[in-house]
Amino acid sequence: MLYALCSMRVLCMESFFCSNCSRFYPLQPSRWRCDCGSFLDLKFESKFPIQKILKRRPDLWRYREAIPIRSNTSILSMNEGFTPLEEIEFDGNRTLMKIDYLFPTGSYKDRGATVLMSKMKEWGVQKVVEDSSGNAGSAIAAYCARAGIECEIYVPQHTSSEKVVQIQAYGAALKKVQGSRERTAEVTMEAASKIPYASHCWNPFFLHGTKTFAFEVWEQMGWKAPDVLVLPIGHGTLFLGVYMGFRELKEAGMIKRIPRLVGVQSAFCAPLYQAFKKGWRETRPIDKEETVAEGIAISEPVRGRQILEATQEVDGEILTVTEKEIGMALMEMGRRGHFIEPTSAATIAGLKKYLRKKRRQETIVSTLTGAGLKSVGKML
Ligand SMILES: Cc1ncc(COP(=O)(O)O)c(C=O)c1O
Ligand SMILES: [Zn+2]
Repeated sequence: MLYALCSMRVLCMESFFCSNCSRFYPLQPSRWRCDCGSFLDLKFESKFPIQKILKRRPDLWRYREAIPIRSNTSILSMNEGFTPLEEIEFDGNRTLMKIDYLFPTGSYKDRGATVLMSKMKEWGVQKVVEDSSGNAGSAIAAYCARAGIECEIYVPQHTSSEKVVQIQAYGAALKKVQGSRERTAEVTMEAASKIPYASHCWNPFFLHGTKTFAFEVWEQMGWKAPDVLVLPIGHGTLFLGVYMGFRELKEAGMIKRIPRLVGVQSAFCAPLYQAFKKGWRETRPIDKEETVAEGIAISEPVRGRQILEATQEVDGEILTVTEKEIGMALMEMGRRGHFIEPTSAATIAGLKKYLRKKRRQETIVSTLTGAGLKSVGKML
């Protein structure tokens, strides 16, 4: 259908497209959303040459034919990815845990940053802006530092001081914004009218990095997909990346079906849970309270419609967890040797909730997305 709108297939392969109004745009660093206001996607045909993949280094760039960067010389890499998939038992249930806090900047956001910033380098961009609850900003700042690209990172005033220090350590210009996370996004969008916006939620190249989570799980499970994945959702960049990765594997004939996806939100900020329960196509305004899970405190997710569609398509669901459950999961993981940040603990609280009500025997994958050292002050 989307291809039919193009006169040339090649043009579509090299374009941003809008799933809301079917417009296409040439790939350009200044283009971060559609004129209709919606987010954009990128059509790209991934290939999975297993024999070649097996010969490469254990990092996420081993899936080179599935990552939309034209030239190898543009790749900005710190050998990130191919994180361990560790077996952990919860209340008698075997689960497989992707240890994604082991990325260079301490969170899974490096998956998206390595690809998005490689594209910015390929475009010859000299400076970018980004807004974040802290981790995406740290990741973008680190890859900018590697490339010698200047960056301004906007964060809400109350962001964990560890993340603020980390962003500055990479040499980024830090901009603290009074008010909510949404206010931070508004201020950044103004700056993005002049400077390319390396946005983890708007720019689809970021999702073409987070999707490598799916490829790694597929390879680490012996070229098989699990039945279910339990993942956090703030803006949903990991959730959507994983959906996209498994969809690409299915389209390439590598797996039979896309696994079910279970999203986890904080009960204090759960726009997608609300929309999913009510069967809405889009999220609607919510009453939000402050949660310790700062990374998922997103009341207006940019790609809300896309997350809801993906959840429906895979027969998935969205759960919420309380502050108390997050605290208990954080302590439990510490006792198991994993010091994670509260946002990351929210996923584990959701996983435990899912395990309590699951009825069938299934292979379940989840993840530890962020390191505990990023949020010590808040934990104290
Ligand atoms: C540690 C951690 N986990 C999960 C998330 C949620 O990611 P997303 O907003 O892409 O859903 C974030 C986002 O900042 C995070 O920092
Ligand atoms: Zn549009």
